[in-house]
Amino acid sequence: MPETLEAPPAPDVDPAFRKDVLDGLAAPIPAIPARWFYDRRGSELFDDITRLDDYYPTRIETGILTERAAEIADAVGKGGALIEFGAGSATKTPLVIDAIKPEHYVPIDISGDYLRDAAKALMADHPGLAVDPVEADFTKPFDLPHEIDGLHRVGFFPGSTIGNFVPASATDMLRHFRAMLGDGAHLIIGMDRVKPIERLKRAYDDSEGVTAAFNKNLLKRINRELAGTIPEDAFDHEARWNEMMGRIEMHLVANRDVDFTVEGRPFSFAKGASIHTENSHKYGKRAARALLAAGGWTPIAEWTDADDDFALILAEAQPPRTAP
Ligand code: AVI
Repeated sequence: MPETLEAPPAPDVDPAFRKDVLDGLAAPIPAIPARWFYDRRGSELFDDITRLDDYYPTRIETGILTERAAEIADAVGKGGALIEFGAGSATKTPLVIDAIKPEHYVPIDISGDYLRDAAKALMADHPGLAVDPVEADFTKPFDLPHEIDGLHRVGFFPGSTIGNFVPASATDMLRHFRAMLGDGAHLIIGMDRVKPIERLKRAYDDSEGVTAAFNKNLLKRINRELAGTIPEDAFDHEARWNEMMGRIEMHLVANRDVDFTVEGRPFSFAKGASIHTENSHKYGKRAARALLAAGGWTPIAEWTDADDDFALILAEAQPPRTAP
């Protein structure tokens, strides 16, 4: 048998994580998809981020929902089924449920444990609401539960999570939401606006270092789950504004020449080389509406804060029209 340097893979590691890390580190522009930030510690750190003074999106979006939930409910209509792409936030989801009063609530998340915990907490506070969690990767097509057949559907996709997808993937995802929710459905979607670069960079490189810890937690996860030997102190967190793409990028940048292995596979990074770990696209008013339209959704209303820092957009799945 030929001699191999590769260690046997750890048994309970998600094979998609292994593939994304090994392929991503070997790519000409090294990159690892942002979805792998969210192990237990990463999810806790993200929760901490949402409470930071420097990180404005959660605070502003929650403020818009608090003030406008009744108006939003009037625009989409009461009852029906509320389908949330993500497990739901303890503060934002109840605001929407209390206003729309859906018969069914369907949270969708890839992390079953997190999903079930969130669903349990929500049911405790909303007796009488039918909660049908679906454990699925919402970036790909999947089936909705039959319990909501025939009900008007309202999709809820808050947090500007759409911004974490490059426009081509965001468009594909919106199109599959459209196909899944069907004609006449509504979508309430949060999108962060373009704003002065210093403010954006501060939100993604906060003064308390929580976002840096969130980014570097990915290295800890690789070392733990994939027998990595990455010296964590050899990489620094960096938030960059990419003007042409209209996005904040997070990178882990080598502060010295560094060699390491992951599952026995060797990697070398020269000082200054980076691992690209996240994109967070920001959308101006027209770009936001154009993205929705490209995804098959017709924007019909929009709510923002007084400074227009963040937008909650309501879109409708109108039947396709012919020409032009
Ligand atoms: C989850 N997502 C919308 C966050 C964002 O703003 O792009 C993730 C995040 N990354 C760093 N801080 C927050």
